[in-house]
Amino acid sequence: MLKPLRKAVLPVAGLGTRFLPATKQLAKEMLPVVDKPLINYAVEEARAAGIEEFCFVTGRGKTMLVDQFDVAYELERTLEARGKQKELAMLRDQALPPGAIVSTRQQTPLGLGHAIWCARSFIGDEPFAILLPDDLMLCDTSCTAQLAEAYRATGGNVVAIEEVPMERVNRYGVISPGETCGRLVEVKGLVEKPPVEQAPSNLTVIGRYVLMPEVIGHLARFEKGAGGEIQLTDGMARLIGHQPFHGLRYEGRRFDCGDKAGFLEAQIAFALAREDLAPAMREILGRYA
Ligand code: UTP
Repeated sequence: MLKPLRKAVLPVAGLGTRFLPATKQLAKEMLPVVDKPLINYAVEEARAAGIEEFCFVTGRGKTMLVDQFDVAYELERTLEARGKQKELAMLRDQALPPGAIVSTRQQTPLGLGHAIWCARSFIGDEPFAILLPDDLMLCDTSCTAQLAEAYRATGGNVVAIEEVPMERVNRYGVISPGETCGRLVEVKGLVEKPPVEQAPSNLTVIGRYVLMPEVIGHLARFEKGAGGEIQLTDGMARLIGHQPFHGLRYEGRRFDCGDKAGFLEAQIAFALAREDLAPAMREILGRYA
């Protein structure tokens, strides 16, 4: 019988050098889009997919990310005393239940594959989701929920994929596609940041995955891949042929908030998606047209 998908790993040990000096003290994942930190969007998305347990793979100076999901007693009391019920309800809704979050340390950022390996005890022998919080998703149905459904349909590994212009494939993990069935594409191969002329397709993997626990054994080889890093892509590639492996053309939009232009676009798109802010945002944008 298929094991239920209950766990998610959120790797947040990166240095966020592209956002210095903002990220000198502040974790990149605490940067807000409109009024909510990136990490909150990722946790919300995972909870909407039925995820119950979270593991943050952190580095130095990142403990505030775990605190963000704790109960803030003093703040709650103050809000209560001031009759700010809406804000209070929102805060309570964002906190995670007791025991639902753990963190582990990746002392040195040796790569995304290494970060996932650091969560091995948490993962155990269960399937798990991975969410990279700097990929921010604007979807009617949570992107992780879409992957969870695909996992239940295929019984194996599923990664969210999207098409990019061919000249940009060298920035991503790229799949070698097999048969297509609706939004699902069979994955026959995976390569991280291939030179444009060697890329097997322009279907790239974004920061959302549902993987089987066996990937950990492959990551434990600590093989260095593209950029001298221990790549998750290389570990996943070793599962192909042994387990079902599919790409899912997810429904929705992705914003690369690890990149300045992507982060700024996300601010606009998320403000336009909000009833309370859309009219003001349209007026502001009109001034710059
Ligand atoms: P990035 O490639 O965006 O790196 O990582 P970064 O350090 O966060 O940011 P820049 O490039 O210096 O601005 C993609 C994701 O993988 C995690 C990051 O936290 C981010 O979620 N990651 C990457 C780790 O947790 N550990 C690593 O060793 C590498």
